[in-house]
Amino acid sequence: MTTQLYTPINLGALQLPNRIIMAPLTRMRAPNSIPTEIMATYYSQRASAGLIISEATPISPQGVGYPATPGIWNQAHIDAWQKTTTAVHEKKGRMVLQLWHVGRISHPDFHDGALPVAPSAIAAKGQAVTPTGMQSFVTPRALATDEIPGIVEDYRQAAKNALAAGFDGVEIHGANGYLLDQFLRDGTNQRTDIYGGSLENRARLLMEVTKAVIAVCGADRVGIRLSPSGTFNDIADSNPEAIFTYVLAELNHFNLAYLHIVDALEGDIRHGAKVITLSVLRKVYQGNLIVCGGYDQLRAEAVLAEGMADAVAFGQLYIANPDLVARFQQHAALNSADSATFYGGDERGYIDYPSL
Ligand SMILES: Cc1cc2nc3c(=O)[nH]c(=O)nc-3n(C[C@H](O)[C@H](O)[C@H](O)COP(=O)(O)O)c2cc1C
Repeated sequence: MTTQLYTPINLGALQLPNRIIMAPLTRMRAPNSIPTEIMATYYSQRASAGLIISEATPISPQGVGYPATPGIWNQAHIDAWQKTTTAVHEKKGRMVLQLWHVGRISHPDFHDGALPVAPSAIAAKGQAVTPTGMQSFVTPRALATDEIPGIVEDYRQAAKNALAAGFDGVEIHGANGYLLDQFLRDGTNQRTDIYGGSLENRARLLMEVTKAVIAVCGADRVGIRLSPSGTFNDIADSNPEAIFTYVLAELNHFNLAYLHIVDALEGDIRHGAKVITLSVLRKVYQGNLIVCGGYDQLRAEAVLAEGMADAVAFGQLYIANPDLVARFQQHAALNSADSATFYGGDERGYIDYPSL
């Protein structure tokens, strides 16, 4: 079998020696939002990946929705993240930071009792992960039109901070039912201002954020993650194909480093997702495409061979296999991931998965 996984590729300014990408993975091991030493160890163990995408990283206190997630809004974050980027670069790796605002997927306990913000005052079904355990989502506060430039500015500043921290670029988290996805979809966005209604209006915030981030990083160091078939975090749209083909056509104008698509997962299909196939998306989007979602080596090789993607990201496999690149190459056995240690905790289930 030809192994395109090991063919180098340039994603904009990012020069990847292989097409095996470490997917963004929230691990909740940064107390008080400060990245820790074990995070530097964890990421540098995985430096042979073609590209490491960091765990989702809130751009502002308002963007926080889970305990112990690392931030990128102040100097302490920049200084602490530098240990990770230095450790990854010392091992000849490349790493981008995933920029995150959770929107309504939060809880007043993260905001001194204030409500989380969202495009519209519509509560998500389900529960927030809070420092004191699971609690039902509350009805968020709809953002006023004149608050939105401030959020765009938070993204811009966070991107600037990411570069100062030594990251090679950023990925805008537009997936999985968080703030930017909430604006895209009519299930969560029922605004009547210039950020709601038409496809153009619902995509406006994502486009403004993209332009602001490009202004500091250059388009060739910016990626965007979207989940057109996703249902996670109670996200829904009456016609996802319409909004996502619109968004992809618009993103063509930016010449981004890459677009990162989360494929429909089993859970999405169970939740009645309107699945948009990769071939539909690939026809619309002309730039580099990373795909993610349930891939193993065989499926990854197949999706590259079919020309449906340019690189493949692995989530759970990267949690358990720091040397995934070597293991695939040698067709070696893989460690399996222990879901009990995915979120929070210490070194265990984090930096103790063995390499070959
Ligand atoms: C523990 C865990 C944490 C995750 N955190 C993030 C995240 O921070 N940002 C994100 O975009 N996706 C996140 N995801 C989704 C993964 O990036 C990926 O899309 C998903 O796991 C499917 O890929 P896989 O089948 O290769 O694991 C997370 C998934 C897991 C299992």
